[in-house]
Amino acid sequence: MSVYLCGELDPPEVQAWLQALRAALPEERIDTSLLSLDPATVDVVLVANPPPGQLKTFTSLRLIQSLWAGVDRLLADRTLPADVPLARMVDDSMSQAMAETALWAVLSLHRGFFDYAQQQRECRWAVLPQRRADELQVAVLGLGQLGRVVASRLLAQGYAVHGWRQGGRSAGPAAPAGVTVHAGLTALAPLLACSDIVVNLLPLTDDTRDLFDATRLAWMKPGAALINLARGAQVVEADLLAALDSGQLSRAVLDVFQREPLDVSHPFWAHPRVTVLPHAAALTDPRSAARVVAANVRALRRGQPLANLVDRRRGY
Ligand code: NAP
Ligand code: GLV
Repeated sequence: MSVYLCGELDPPEVQAWLQALRAALPEERIDTSLLSLDPATVDVVLVANPPPGQLKTFTSLRLIQSLWAGVDRLLADRTLPADVPLARMVDDSMSQAMAETALWAVLSLHRGFFDYAQQQRECRWAVLPQRRADELQVAVLGLGQLGRVVASRLLAQGYAVHGWRQGGRSAGPAAPAGVTVHAGLTALAPLLACSDIVVNLLPLTDDTRDLFDATRLAWMKPGAALINLARGAQVVEADLLAALDSGQLSRAVLDVFQREPLDVSHPFWAHPRVTVLPHAAALTDPRSAARVVAANVRALRRGQPLANLVDRRRGY
């Protein structure tokens, strides 16, 4: 049987993946071209958001392994084989990268570094008030693989960290000690109302789509900031612009957008209180991720339990 790699990867990325995968799984036949591979022999696909419909070619599949952490685009493909286990990417390197991005954004908001950058462009010398980290309430929405590492890093930096998750205290892996856990939709309004900075790390599901609409943005503490590192479809962009323009929100740091790449005419690019990143908060690193893939492929071959499986009913 063989392993097929496909999806949104440019030629240098394909080469990096093939090199890392072949080093991590020397016993497997791994290819990216169906010219040299019979689809009937493919039982594992490694996917980076392939075009909808692509996986139905494979009739012998036993594992769909996503190279991305978020599987919303895969799950939106109605032709995705329903009975084949779907695993997502969970990799410490990705979590560390996400923690770096979140810490940079929170620190920059807390210490006014985005404002100082603006002042420099205007040749303006003005010292802003300096707050202690423990004076800021930071909410991390989503206490999953990424949210927990982000929350730990922010806690270590001295912030008062809150986490929001679906289940109660006992659901899922424990939140880092020191993080105040809030659970369920009823907890969201009071959490948003007391948070100076909100970091979104929720998966995109039916429940989280358009989460930040005019109503939820109005629940936020006046002058608070939003950092979206998860998915663009969780924010109603027109409502966010209105909240920024009215002063309800002081700033937004956005890594993800409704449509990517962000159109050159989009108002976010030039907005004085929006910071744009090109969906680069935490990239999958083939060097470490290939080892994660290898562990799952070997587990499959040995009939052992697979790791990082997506619960298709929950959508993450
Ligand atoms: P994960 O391990 O699946 O964790 C998801 C967390 O969200 C869990 O704590 C879950 O609650 C919570 N959650 C889900 N639905 C909820 C709801 N309706 N209300 C409240 N909490 C809810 O996910 P992850 O690995 O941390 O990744 C999170 C997302 O980050 C990915 O899905 C992806 O979209 C995004 N991402 C972005 C980048 C980037 O570069 N921008 C990179 C990687 C990933 P429970 O704990 O109760 O289940
Ligand atoms: C990136 O956004 C990912 O889901 O891995």
